[in-house]
Amino acid sequence: MKIGLIGTGFFAEKHSSILSKISGVDVTAFLGSSIEKAEKEARKWSNAKGYIHVEEMLDQQKLDAVYICVPPMAHGAFENVLLERNIPFFVEKPLGVREEPYEIAKRVEELGLITSVGYQWRYRDTTQKIRSILQERKVGMALGYWMDTMPMVPWWRDVNKSGGQFVEQTTHIVDLLRYLCGEIKEVYAAFNRSMMHEKVSGSTVSDVGSVTLTLHNGIIATILNTCILPKSYKVGLELYTNQGVLEVSIDEARDVREGSIKRYSDELDPYVVENKIFLDAVRTGDPSSILSTYQDAVKTHQVTTATGHSAMTGKPVIMESI
Ligand SMILES: NC(=O)c1ccc[n+]([C@@H]2O[C@H](COP(=O)([O-])OP(=O)(O)OC[C@H]3O[C@@H](n4cnc5c(N)ncnc54)[C@H](O)[C@@H]3O)[C@@H](O)[C@H]2O)c1
Repeated sequence: MKIGLIGTGFFAEKHSSILSKISGVDVTAFLGSSIEKAEKEARKWSNAKGYIHVEEMLDQQKLDAVYICVPPMAHGAFENVLLERNIPFFVEKPLGVREEPYEIAKRVEELGLITSVGYQWRYRDTTQKIRSILQERKVGMALGYWMDTMPMVPWWRDVNKSGGQFVEQTTHIVDLLRYLCGEIKEVYAAFNRSMMHEKVSGSTVSDVGSVTLTLHNGIIATILNTCILPKSYKVGLELYTNQGVLEVSIDEARDVREGSIKRYSDELDPYVVENKIFLDAVRTGDPSSILSTYQDAVKTHQVTTATGHSAMTGKPVIMESI
């Protein structure tokens, strides 16, 4: 299979490295914001070329699939070109910062195009374990966290480019909540720029936030996030159930019941799993094992981007059906 990679940063490299270990897969094209960066990545593969124009890349090479690993503000144009040419794509979260994902999701659906979104928490063994335990439990409420330090890439601290922490990072926890507990009906957010704008020049993102979500099935969730910490502290989701607490954290899952705590860890690397499942879907034409399609991920986008509106107006936002 011939694969193209759009983006030459941290996560394009992560996918490139995973793809290099999957047999029958060849990354033959890299698209960067400069030809130097694209060619530097291309040199790591025996048969790859660097590009700066996506049309030129797709005119010159017949690619089976393309990975889009660019910052949130750079989405839209790449997806649209791939849709025009009917080329399956894997796109890193978040889907964007504006409205484009809604139109893209409609076109993906109309074309029946195979897509996958980088919500790798869904592919974790631990998440699957908690999902199976939930068959026998009733969840009352959920508490989610992304209590961390600020990533120092310049686009991340600019709210117009990243969408802010809730859209860029905490999106994983919102997506996990949807996957484990159900769809969200209403969102209310309180955000503040408490100190990072004084510490880091050009920082326009909120650095503390608390979001209350009401699900259609009545479950209530609170998801907190901050990027003021000097060191990462806590990332995960706790579910409060009729038989105790279930927790998926960044490195394990726990089933905490009266008198017992069971711990589960991941056997497989979820990034490798999501890549293999996407490539198998492209190879066979059967997308049924993909756990996060573009059409599904757009619902997470709707929730995370609604928080900005809620925080600005001080009012809850009701999710329209999409
Ligand atoms: N799933 C995960 O766990 C996970 C982890 C890290 C990053 N990500 C996501 O991956 C995406 C990229 O993050 P990153 O860490 O690689 O960022 P990065 O800053 O390291 O790299 C971004 C790359 O995109 C390129 N780029 C920017 N605008 C472009 C454009 N218009 N055309 C072509 N290239 C362009 C930049 O030159 C850079 O090479 C983000 O959306 C991030 O949220 C996901």
